[in-house]
Amino acid sequence: MYLPVTPTTPLVTLLEGATPLLRAPRLARHLPGIDLYLKYEGQNPTGSFKDRGMTMAMSKALEEGSRAVVCASTGNTAAAAAAYASRAGVPCFVVVPAGGVAVGKLVQAMAHGARVVPVEGSFDEALRIVRDAAPRLRLTLVNSVNPFRIEGQKTGAFEVCDALGRAPDVLAIPVGNAGNITAYWRGFVQYRTAGRISTLPKMWGFQAAGAAPLVLGHPVERPETVASAIRIGRPASWDSAIAAARESGGGFEAVTDEELLAARRLLAVEEGVFVEPSSAAPIAGLLKRTREGRLPEGPSIVCVLTGHGLKDPESVLRTERRPEGVPATPEALERAVDEVLAVR
Ligand code: F0G
Repeated sequence: MYLPVTPTTPLVTLLEGATPLLRAPRLARHLPGIDLYLKYEGQNPTGSFKDRGMTMAMSKALEEGSRAVVCASTGNTAAAAAAYASRAGVPCFVVVPAGGVAVGKLVQAMAHGARVVPVEGSFDEALRIVRDAAPRLRLTLVNSVNPFRIEGQKTGAFEVCDALGRAPDVLAIPVGNAGNITAYWRGFVQYRTAGRISTLPKMWGFQAAGAAPLVLGHPVERPETVASAIRIGRPASWDSAIAAARESGGGFEAVTDEELLAARRLLAVEEGVFVEPSSAAPIAGLLKRTREGRLPEGPSIVCVLTGHGLKDPESVLRTERRPEGVPATPEALERAVDEVLAVR
């Protein structure tokens, strides 16, 4: 009833979705007064929320007799497209910014046998290329400009409401190409229209300071941030993202790379939830608001944690030191134990 599929649509699925909505009591101590929840999208089959959109896009591509699919990507769309194309038995081409994709994601696309085309340019340029070339080459474009991607991704909003029994007061979400904030807002609005919820959340979108076009109000020519997933200067879903923020009474805010890495660390250490840097943007944003006294008391806030930490292992090494080898003796272990427990 909510998705554009018919009984004859061939479903290409890896049983994505149904991800946990976790409470975060230890993290919440850093955010006094907040009823905090984490929607852990890293638990999807390829480790990001992209799987929700890709099952739809690939099913419809198969239904329409597509001969191959293509996307531009900062990595996660590429990994999901590659996996679901394999599942569908359709060739897959992924165009990525050369040197701009975290190793875990690149390896996923390669592992699934996609043809990876690194271009000497940004994600925005890669997207321009595939939008231009896809029709001419008769390839199905599976970026979020494909409307079926958004349709699939809106199910995240449904699950949040199903788990809470209502809509949260605030949905906090990282924003890059702006497809996901568009999708969540559509999901909430549809659920209200259907009478399944009675209120709508405020949509708070968080961008990296070096790649924050929606905060600045204009495109960014050379976006730069440690959070490579959202290193995007010209979001394709600009208008619908602005509409989601405006209609919901929300808005956009930027967080620095230092704030992103600190929030990633806090989430992993305090709650056992490991995410890639971009996914820590909502947490970083809430911590910043708390520090600045701009977080009201009482609201229920759901943070969408978009991608698993194993996607980008190198980012961890920016804040953590690699452990040094020690002699293979019980005493060496004892010294390590003493060191740690002495400071507790
Ligand atoms: N978080 C992660 C982990 C992402 O991979 C992305 C986008 C976003 C957040 C932002 O979502 O673009 O819908 O606003 N990744 C895309 C990709 C661009 O190619 O994988 P958005």
